Amino acid sequence: MISKSAQETKKIAAKLAKKILKEKPHQKHARVIALTGELGAGKTTFVQGFAKALGIKSRMVSPTFLIFRKYKNFYHVDVYRIHSTKELDVLNFKSILNSSENILLIEWAEKIRKILPKDAIWVNFRHGRKENERFIAY
Ligand SMILES: Nc1ncnc2c1ncn2[C@@H]1O[C@H](COP(=O)(O)OP(=O)(O)OP(=O)(O)O)[C@@H](O)[C@H]1O
Ligand SMILES: [Mg+2]
Repeated sequence: MISKSAQETKKIAAKLAKKILKEKPHQKHARVIALTGELGAGKTTFVQGFAKALGIKSRMVSPTFLIFRKYKNFYHVDVYRIHSTKELDVLNFKSILNSSENILLIEWAEKIRKILPKDAIWVNFRHGRKENERFIAY
């Protein structure tokens, strides 16, 4: 998909959020949306649109220094500063991933790919040629 503005990226995210809310609970673990792509490509912007569609009113800011923020069963995770998945152990991350009611959006998810469920939805972001152009693929 091509997005021409932050607003459009949020709409694309909201569409995926609504699709996920409609899913029947088939899996035994959390629903993971794995976000990849360079700095400033639009991952946090996407999370903002996704969270809004789930009815979360708090403003999504980048959780860069916190690793994750939790809003009920919704987790906004950013593993940019993680060097090893072991760093997540103290955060009870495995049990968060194992709980089927949870929805996680993970920025820089490729860094922890090996511990994510196989059915994670991978969303990749790329800058286009124009300033506000982004390519979003999932
Ligand atoms: N089409 C677009 N989609 C998303 N963001 C856009 C778009 N056009 C311009 N922007 C701007 O680009 C920036 C994207 O920043 P954002 O924090 O979402 O990126 P990020 O991928 O989370 O970066 P980081 O890797 O640093 O976390 C925002 O300032 C946003 O307003
Ligand atoms: Mg970000």
